[in-house]
Amino acid sequence: MDGGELALRIQRFDPSLEKGPHMELYTIPLKEGMTVLDALLYAKDSLDHGIALRFSCRMASCGSCGMKINGRPRLACETQVADLGPRAITVQPMDNFPIVRDLVVDLESFFEKHAGISPGILRKEDPREQESPSGEYLMTPQELDSIVQFTYCIKCGLCSSSCPTSSTDASFPGPQALAQEYRFLKDVRDEGGKERLDLVDTDHGVWRCHFAGTCSAVCPKGVDPALGIQLLKRHVMAARSPMRRKSKGRSGAKVFPNPNKDLLKQP
Ligand code: FES
Repeated sequence: MDGGELALRIQRFDPSLEKGPHMELYTIPLKEGMTVLDALLYAKDSLDHGIALRFSCRMASCGSCGMKINGRPRLACETQVADLGPRAITVQPMDNFPIVRDLVVDLESFFEKHAGISPGILRKEDPREQESPSGEYLMTPQELDSIVQFTYCIKCGLCSSSCPTSSTDASFPGPQALAQEYRFLKDVRDEGGKERLDLVDTDHGVWRCHFAGTCSAVCPKGVDPALGIQLLKRHVMAARSPMRRKSKGRSGAKVFPNPNKDLLKQP
């Protein structure tokens, strides 16, 4: 691929100075193995220092470089230029988020929604048990299997940027937060139960999802948020039914003595 040129169209917009976005065209010398992030960094380093973009790990891990590439939400650092066909690429900021500048969007509401579903193990025991554990909370490989795909979420925001409900309802938690709610609900170490279901069984909660499935289609880590949301709906319905509630108990994770207990006590 070395030797050719790429026509890179970047959406530029500074809301503090301009009324609306415009496109600018940059010509990038192609290199073997070039990613869209590489092309953007060439443009920023060599052609226009003013281009604003966000990135960090360059290995599809931190979730910083989400953007729309040729109309589809993707991570710029894992998208190969060679995989996009003709040597012309258009990059735009993710939809459903306010633009800070150029390709950088404001993810504050996204992270607030994530924080809103209590993204951590909830236990009813003495809080001192979590600060100074006396044992390990074990789960079987099968129990892990039932939630492991959801733990791969890197919070890049691509799923929420593609979600038609998120684009019309600012109070909808979005596929990322709802899938994480399911992940913690199904974690056998978690005791949130009804508390978690009440959080999403609202007018703007889980029922707003129409199962468009775009969230799952664009996830760069193979997570299936649409599936998690449908399963979450099933748990909400089961919790609403008095008969199901009576017959269903929660086994919970077993507590086993921690072999490193004495080590933990050392200063
Ligand atoms: Fe970290 Fe792309 S730079 S995911």
